Amino acid sequence: MNIKSYLSPKTRVKKSLIEGRGLFGIRQIKKGELVGIKGGHIIGWKTLQRIRHLIGDSYFQIDDDFVIGPLKSNEVGKIMMFLNHSCNPNIGVRGEITFVAMRDIKAEEELTIDYAMVDNDIYKTKCNCAQKNCRKIIAGKDWQKKTLQKKYRGYFSRYIQDKIDKISVG
Ligand SMILES: C[S@@+](CC[C@H](N)C(=O)[O-])C[C@H]1O[C@@H](n2cnc3c(N)ncnc32)[C@H](O)[C@@H]1O
Ligand SMILES: [Zn+2]
Repeated sequence: MNIKSYLSPKTRVKKSLIEGRGLFGIRQIKKGELVGIKGGHIIGWKTLQRIRHLIGDSYFQIDDDFVIGPLKSNEVGKIMMFLNHSCNPNIGVRGEITFVAMRDIKAEEELTIDYAMVDNDIYKTKCNCAQKNCRKIIAGKDWQKKTLQKKYRGYFSRYIQDKIDKISVG
């Protein structure tokens, strides 16, 4: 089976100033427009640790113990969406695998998400987004930050939003 992610025809992958390659708009994209849908295998956390060296960061977390992504290195190219992280992103998540514009986006802008929208993990890594509000260090538990919970309401992966709602109720 030819397993792959969907990327809108209004996008293209090219060299990014943030890191490596990134996804860019080639025409104007309107707020709410769908830019991509993640494809892949449903992979448990234990399996992920075993195959991680083959697939890098080409997966997305979809629940505490599950990610969606490639199982083999030769599937990475078709499944990776090339969405880099920015602390001032223009893309959000609708559900768990669908990515939509959070605002109107001009042609040639890089399409970025905030990894806080999708990750519940235990990493810490330096951010190279160069935005005025850059957090400098991004972490796998950034979704717990109140400021981000407010900023991205409606754009978190559903499993993260459920956690936030649970905490808010008490
Ligand atoms: C899904 S890949 C994005 C595509 C990647 N740039 C490439 O060329 O393969 C995610 C990886 O890109 C890098 N990355 C994304 N956003 C970054 C940022 N703001 N600062 C530093 N590295 C970033 C990190 O290595 C991260 O694990
Ligand atoms: Zn940043």
